[in-house]
Amino acid sequence: MLKFVHQAIRDIRTTGSVFPSSPRLARAMTSSLRAHRGERKILEVGPGTGAFTEAILHALRGHDTLDIVEVNPVFCEHLETRLLQPFRSRHSSMPIKLHCSAIEDATLAGGYDFVICGLPFNNFPLAVTESIFARMIALMRDGGELTYFEYAGVRTLKLPFVGSHGRAHLRKLGDFTRLTASKHQVTRKLVVANIPPALAVRLVKRHGALEPCSGSTKTS
Ligand SMILES: C[S@@+](CC[C@H](N)C(=O)[O-])C[C@H]1O[C@@H](n2cnc3c(N)ncnc32)[C@H](O)[C@@H]1O
Repeated sequence: MLKFVHQAIRDIRTTGSVFPSSPRLARAMTSSLRAHRGERKILEVGPGTGAFTEAILHALRGHDTLDIVEVNPVFCEHLETRLLQPFRSRHSSMPIKLHCSAIEDATLAGGYDFVICGLPFNNFPLAVTESIFARMIALMRDGGELTYFEYAGVRTLKLPFVGSHGRAHLRKLGDFTRLTASKHQVTRKLVVANIPPALAVRLVKRHGALEPCSGSTKTS
């Protein structure tokens, strides 16, 4: 927790929040990968101190594979020593690879069944968000799932405080997520037990689509 807060103070733009996600949000982010039968090829993007990584590691079995991509070297070292080395010592045959790099630059084979993404898209320029979404979706197989999260209502709450450039950015980002939701199949789950409350957004890649699509909103 302290490591996360320290990195947030040092670089709020890429860290994106002051606190790591809650175990309840981690469960929502990983619910469909946990329910899936058969082997799974998994990619996690932006793990930070590993709130979602712990839930993913807990769910791994058999011939699953896991690639993890994190840009901040302090978080990479933390993940390696606190989570991955202890896990590997118990499950030496499980292929888990940590890529200490931006998702834009990571060398990845693709064909993922599940992508779990913790990136702070509200903090990124729109062009960066668009290219990261395009990359993640291109890395998924058809029918694969991307789960990412947004803080509930954050764009609306920020609007009065950000000036005209900030408002234009937030509106364009909202338009982009709606467009994405219109191209694939998207469901959202509200998790109130998180600081702040968040929506886990699950996108299922449509056959032949290169970017995301629209759908229903569920609350629990
Ligand atoms: C909001 S934090 C989420 C951390 C964790 N998943 C959680 O929910 O507690 C965002 C994380 O994404 C990482 N990150 C930001 N930009 C990235 C990029 N382009 N590629 C990979 N990781 C990135 C940050 O360093 C940070 O660890």
